[in-house]
Amino acid sequence: MYKITTNSAAQTRQLGETLGSLLQPGDFISLHGDLGSGKTCLAGGVGNGLGVTGRVKSPTFTLINEYEGKIPLFHMDAYRLDQPEEIEDLGYEHYFYGPGATLVEWAGIIEPYLPECRLDITIVRSPVSEEERVIELVPHGKRHEQLVREMMRHVCAGD
Ligand SMILES: Nc1ncnc2c1ncn2[C@@H]1O[C@H](COP(=O)(O)OP(=O)(O)OP(=O)(O)O)[C@@H](O)[C@H]1O
Ligand SMILES: [Mg+2]
Repeated sequence: MYKITTNSAAQTRQLGETLGSLLQPGDFISLHGDLGSGKTCLAGGVGNGLGVTGRVKSPTFTLINEYEGKIPLFHMDAYRLDQPEEIEDLGYEHYFYGPGATLVEWAGIIEPYLPECRLDITIVRSPVSEEERVIELVPHGKRHEQLVREMMRHVCAGD
């Protein structure tokens, strides 16, 4: 597991931007973490990194938002699904196995539908500091291992 600590929303957003700049079609990011931990904040940075114009907004009510960047970005939020099977009605295969990269907030809710190859990111709040977050990254599969290693290289280089 890889871990990165951020001390502000801006830093989490910057981390998302680094991740976004490295994403390729077929990449899949599952986001985990409590309410208000920073999943949408990170997703906003990913949009920036992919060159999406306009703000990446929370898809809590729309379930899936689609953005045009360097490659398409699909941003999903599973929080409001009553049953995981409901994503079948959304035609999830088009997003998960389509031409873009996908980010899913509250990905644990649709666990059985998650692609095997993916990057799991969990954002953990600090018990002592309001603005500190520990961001845990667990890659599954070769491509996502390479992605997280590249990301760590950028983080260590301070960009
Ligand atoms: N280090 C940090 N990283 C990210 N967000 C932070 C940090 N410190 C403070 N914040 C604040 O925490 C909040 C994170 O909100 P955000 O909407 O991104 O959470 P979320 O995980 O998407 O929540 P939800 O589960 O409701 O979708 C923002 O108000 C942000 O300013
Ligand atoms: Mg959110």
